[in-house]
Amino acid sequence: KRVGILISGRGSNMSALVAAAQAPGCPYEVALVFSNVADAPGLAIAEAAGVPTASLDHRGHGGRALFDAKVDAILRDAGCDLVALAGYMRLLSDDFVAAWEGRMINIHPSLLPSFKGVDTHARAIAAGCRLHGCTVHLVTPELDSGPIIAQAAVPVMDDDTPDALAARVLVEEHRLYPQALAALASGRLRVEGQRVLGF
Ligand code: GRF
Repeated sequence: KRVGILISGRGSNMSALVAAAQAPGCPYEVALVFSNVADAPGLAIAEAAGVPTASLDHRGHGGRALFDAKVDAILRDAGCDLVALAGYMRLLSDDFVAAWEGRMINIHPSLLPSFKGVDTHARAIAAGCRLHGCTVHLVTPELDSGPIIAQAAVPVMDDDTPDALAARVLVEEHRLYPQALAALASGRLRVEGQRVLGF
């Protein structure tokens, strides 16, 4: 399967997905890394890894739906079958989500359904959680609410800062995301309502 990865920044999860694609037997290849931010550090990392890249600033297209239609065309032109969001800091229009339904995944830095949205690490510490982590899920129109494919948990330490906790979670993100994408690309996952079976 051919995957398009959407990023807005650092691109460390994108790098993990690209690295895993190079292993023998990986059921996906990275066809394109796209960013809405032209100088996203992740774009340079992808280029250095020999992966095709594209960027298009999200401003000045006459609204979210029109911008997303252009992104959709870029992904189709690259022959993408699947889309992986990796730190893509844009809400998606309903048409875009519908076009990729069941074929688009996201990684979120919390144990969903807790802590949707931003500042997840600080919120987990403030809430007194002893466990925190990351979730890979199918993308549906409602933010961070699609069927869960896989999760990984880490402990919250007494002296944790948001940055320290984020770094601990990120190690698990880089391990989990390639596994979840490979599972989706292999065709072995089954979606039953809100549940994903077969991971
Ligand atoms: C990660 O924490 C990811 O879970 C969240 O945004 C961050 C992206 O980091 N969705 P990176 O660009 O992959 O390094």
